[in-house]
Amino acid sequence: MAGSADTPVEGLSEAEARSELAQLGMEITLHDKAYHTDDAPSVSDAIYDALRMRLNAIESKYPTLVRADSPSKRVGAAPSAGFSKVTHAKPMLSLGNVFTLEDLQEFDMRIRRFLANDPDLKAGATLAYTAEPKIDGLSLSLRYEEGILVMAATRGDGTVGENVTANARAVANIPQKLLGEGWPDVLEVRGEVYMAKSDFAALNEKQREKGAKIFANPRNAAAGSLRQLDASITAARPLKFFAYAWGEVLSLPADTQTGVIEAFKTWGFDVNPLMARLTNVADLMAHFELIEASRAALDYDIDGVVYKVDRLDWQAKLGMVARAPRWATAHKFPAEKATTTILAIEIQVGRTGALTPVAKLEPVNVGGVMVSSATLHNRDEIARLDVRIYDTVTIQRAGDVIPQVVTVDVDKRGGDSEPYEFPTKCPACGSHAVAEGEDIVVRCTGGLICPAQRVERLKHFVSRAAFDIEGLGVKQIAAFYDNSWVQEPADIFTLSAHSDASDEPLDKWEGWGPQSATKLFAAIEARRTIAFHRLLFALGVRHLGQQTAKLIARHYGDIDHFMGEMALAQDAESSARADFIAIDGIGDVVAGAIIEFLAEDHNSQALNRLLDQLTVEPAEAVASGTPVAGKTVVFTGTLTRMTRNEAKARAEALGAKVAGSVSAKTDYLVAGPAAGSKLKKAQALGVNILSEDEWLALISSDTPPSETEDADEKPAQFDLI
Ligand code: IVH
Repeated sequence: MAGSADTPVEGLSEAEARSELAQLGMEITLHDKAYHTDDAPSVSDAIYDALRMRLNAIESKYPTLVRADSPSKRVGAAPSAGFSKVTHAKPMLSLGNVFTLEDLQEFDMRIRRFLANDPDLKAGATLAYTAEPKIDGLSLSLRYEEGILVMAATRGDGTVGENVTANARAVANIPQKLLGEGWPDVLEVRGEVYMAKSDFAALNEKQREKGAKIFANPRNAAAGSLRQLDASITAARPLKFFAYAWGEVLSLPADTQTGVIEAFKTWGFDVNPLMARLTNVADLMAHFELIEASRAALDYDIDGVVYKVDRLDWQAKLGMVARAPRWATAHKFPAEKATTTILAIEIQVGRTGALTPVAKLEPVNVGGVMVSSATLHNRDEIARLDVRIYDTVTIQRAGDVIPQVVTVDVDKRGGDSEPYEFPTKCPACGSHAVAEGEDIVVRCTGGLICPAQRVERLKHFVSRAAFDIEGLGVKQIAAFYDNSWVQEPADIFTLSAHSDASDEPLDKWEGWGPQSATKLFAAIEARRTIAFHRLLFALGVRHLGQQTAKLIARHYGDIDHFMGEMALAQDAESSARADFIAIDGIGDVVAGAIIEFLAEDHNSQALNRLLDQLTVEPAEAVASGTPVAGKTVVFTGTLTRMTRNEAKARAEALGAKVAGSVSAKTDYLVAGPAAGSKLKKAQALGVNILSEDEWLALISSDTPPSETEDADEKPAQFDLI
């Protein structure tokens, strides 16, 4: 504070007052910026308030000295340009799902199989779970250092979220300072921000009176309220927080889930009162039913029940699969249904040419979400339902799944109704649209001449699991396609040259400026070097999902080797083709699709143009120094201690190659009971044959399981309004 700060305001001379006002004004402005724009407060609230009070007192004593730029003349804070990004110290995971008792039993069995060698479990220790409501809000990570809230971040893509610290400070039940004692110096508490149903109804009523935006459901209202650039708006919205998980923590206060949540409670967090600790599937199911029965009476939306293994050492052993913990799952409530009318049937053309019919609906509220379109899947589904335009239909929505039409109320149909005729030409390019062979999907035959397929392939190319270019999303790539700067993937890497040479460079476009354009070009440059498996996945070949791309990358090592082998594999009788098909998880269909893709001149030429722009990194070195690194393994017969996928994931994590058939190259055949022809072949070839137990002994039991990812492309996003 200024030098005269200790003098009571009454004792200040005019000169002192003038100089102190200048000083205070500057200090407060800096603190405001730190708090509101940078989301990084530079002083405590108490000190800030004291500065403000001193300024106000001096200004009321000397009104003629009030400066034009005084903080007292500002209303609110200048909004920041957007939220800054935060990389989570530990990723924020998602959850797998179960829907039925059988799924739940399978979840429990899987965990038991994974822990089969655990000495405590073998000795009869109880496997307990926690069961608690799955809150339908948005997840938030709160970082406390020395007990003080220093950072709040949204989930984002799980790895990078948005810095919403100022907004989180405006949520009444989020502690700014931890209560009690025993908290570690670094603690990230994770949980759900939500809006109570009653608060949501009152907010919408207020919004309606003001003629402001009406929210579709409490979740949207919570998300819209938390992600306000002006935190004072967040403060005016009644948000709440339940703590249920954690990220980085210096030392945990307990060795069970229940224990940690108990500690959170003593440190000032609200935790869900319906959480229970249970020791068998029947009790989990009973608790699920109890929570489901209380659903309507709860003042917050929930969409299921989350089960978590209680012991933290077991959680650690179980690890994760596909960005979700193996030790937890969400038991989802059954789909919600509603009745509405079909206004139109539109045909969307996907990146592989698939024509997907979409019903445009009279908007309807389905379990709290307004829905205006639903998928009709394909031509056969339309025929099966005999669904027609203007029909009254029942639609259902389950979780994040695309809403779908389930039944048609034929009695409500008008007399002039006519069956829907599925197009025989692609609506985007006019090429013939046909379903080949056994395929029920009608596809456009236009290939890359079809603008819809081209643009969908480009969208896929830049998607998160592919090139993941920051600032180049679906909207931007479509705009660059429309103005013809980007017609194929290689063009992305000459975008800045295109822009430079243009009369209307990118920084002059609406919504763009020099900064954002430069940032985009830099993000593109950063992706000139790309992992082999990402490149493969980005090509958008049918059946070539992320998992398959990883298998291929791991098998061939680098792109040159792969391209060489693929050239040889064009010959159906070649050993290159046989080798390709023998990779476990590949098979005829996938191999055929890839070989066929590369046999098309326009594809291989486009790929070569792309490769001219890129440096492709070889596949990550797999584990070495393990007993099975570099060995080729085949599993056959029934495995009793793990599923095939688990066995495979584990073997690959240890650097082994898992093949689908036995050949002279096979190092080990792991044969369970009921092994048949593969066993015979292995015996004939003199391959080393192991039982499941011998295999487990070989790889030793306490190696952590590997992380695997979803194989398939995500379905297109449908618009909920
Ligand atoms: S635990 C490590 N518990 O569900 C596991 N998640 O589908 C992290 N969610 O992103 C999640 N209530 O936003 C957990 N009681 C609860 C939850 C919960 C809601 C959300 C959370 C997460 C999503 C996963």
